[in-house]
Amino acid sequence: MDRLTLDYTHVLDAAVGPDHGLTAQELEGIAPQTEEALRAVQARRTKDLRWMDLPHQADVQQDVLDYAGSMQPLFASGQLKNVVVLGIGGSALGNRALHAALSSPFHDIEPPEGLPRLFVLDNVDPDLVGEFLDTVDVSKCLFNVISKSGSTAETMSQFLVLRQKLIDAVGEEAHVRHIVVTTDAEKGVLRPIVDAEGYASFIVPDGVGGRFSVLSPVGLVSSALVGIDVRGLLAGAADMDERCKGAAFADNPALIYAAIQTLMQNKKGKPMAVTFSYSQRLASLSDWYAQLLAESIGKRKSKGGADVFVGPTPVSAVGVTDQHSQSQLYVEGPFDKWFTLLAVERADHVVTIPKQYADHDALSYLGGRTMNELFAAEREGTRIALTDAGRPCCSIQFPSVTAHTVGQYLYMMEMAVAVMGELYDVDAFDQPGVEAAKVATYALMGRAGFEERRTEIEAAKSKDPKVV
Ligand code: PA5
Repeated sequence: MDRLTLDYTHVLDAAVGPDHGLTAQELEGIAPQTEEALRAVQARRTKDLRWMDLPHQADVQQDVLDYAGSMQPLFASGQLKNVVVLGIGGSALGNRALHAALSSPFHDIEPPEGLPRLFVLDNVDPDLVGEFLDTVDVSKCLFNVISKSGSTAETMSQFLVLRQKLIDAVGEEAHVRHIVVTTDAEKGVLRPIVDAEGYASFIVPDGVGGRFSVLSPVGLVSSALVGIDVRGLLAGAADMDERCKGAAFADNPALIYAAIQTLMQNKKGKPMAVTFSYSQRLASLSDWYAQLLAESIGKRKSKGGADVFVGPTPVSAVGVTDQHSQSQLYVEGPFDKWFTLLAVERADHVVTIPKQYADHDALSYLGGRTMNELFAAEREGTRIALTDAGRPCCSIQFPSVTAHTVGQYLYMMEMAVAVMGELYDVDAFDQPGVEAAKVATYALMGRAGFEERRTEIEAAKSKDPKVV
């Protein structure tokens, strides 16, 4: 059974001492709160937190697979070559993470027969979009436009640019089959456009916020198109749901993870949560998790409306690469961080290091060993260095990187963050800080209805700027 495990031995006081490690009393103390938090979250499962049910929606899975199947001949024949996600935040990070984890790292150089490349264009930097237009033939692209709100300026502007380029390239009528839209069933401007244009489309269901939407068509459509095992992904998530939804603290990885995060920040003075991926393929999952954690828990207001200004700062690192970049700080810098290593027990490949230069001690010990052994030793070496330096560190262990284990991870982290919301006493499902920047952008860009905000921004401009 490829069951994900959480090893939290080295966040305990026995490993790193009582100043930095959690005591049995601290964990026992918070356990009932986590269980109560879980009950509160589960009570909203069929109400406003519908993301919990995404792994079980067989009809949606089938619709996504049918759509991918219907597009497959166009990729097989070479009429289409690329899938391009136009989306941002929760409407993009999961797509990139799933492709990175579950396709070859070199998929986009040489896609397997009949499959498209996948690009996630989650920026409006003109040097990204302009370079894309200069480099990629839009007539060979399927654009996967994703926006729950159907109004985000970045995604809408990309849609307008790419739609026009498509029409210029293939004509008004033919451009329709180059676009698939995922958006709310009713809200936002994209839905009426879908209806008017006849674009293929999927729904982001009610009760599924952007950063909790990876297991909806938001993440599934592009995944199915590039050949990811969508059923396996959802089965993994469903298994984790089963494991977490009613289990007591001691058997519940989501509750234990939420408890560690909360105690590390609130009792041990560690505001930084570092996800250190000892897997190149899982590295983008850290970026997906960074958004999930930051947007969900980073809040000004408590649930009761008091100013609390809370939230951990997520940090992503990749092993072994960042051993030669960030580890110095992690091992010897301030005691303001705790660590989660992502570990993979069984890689898909075995790479053997040839025996050469037997008379050079600096090389001979490597000869005949595998990179798998070296990678595992480096991971354990980092863990030991962190522990010896009093830095708490847990491991999430993937038996191997498959759709099923990645599905487990996604769901476990979503549930952990939902529970953290209760423990930190914040609304984990809103994002007023993101909305504030969106509103300011609308105002600066002259969107109707935002005139008052524009006036305020103009009035607040410094009369005496300091620039060197
Ligand atoms: O998690 C969130 O809600 C945000 O990150 C959104 O996903 C992001 O702002 C994009 O919003 P939308 O999908 O409405 O375009």
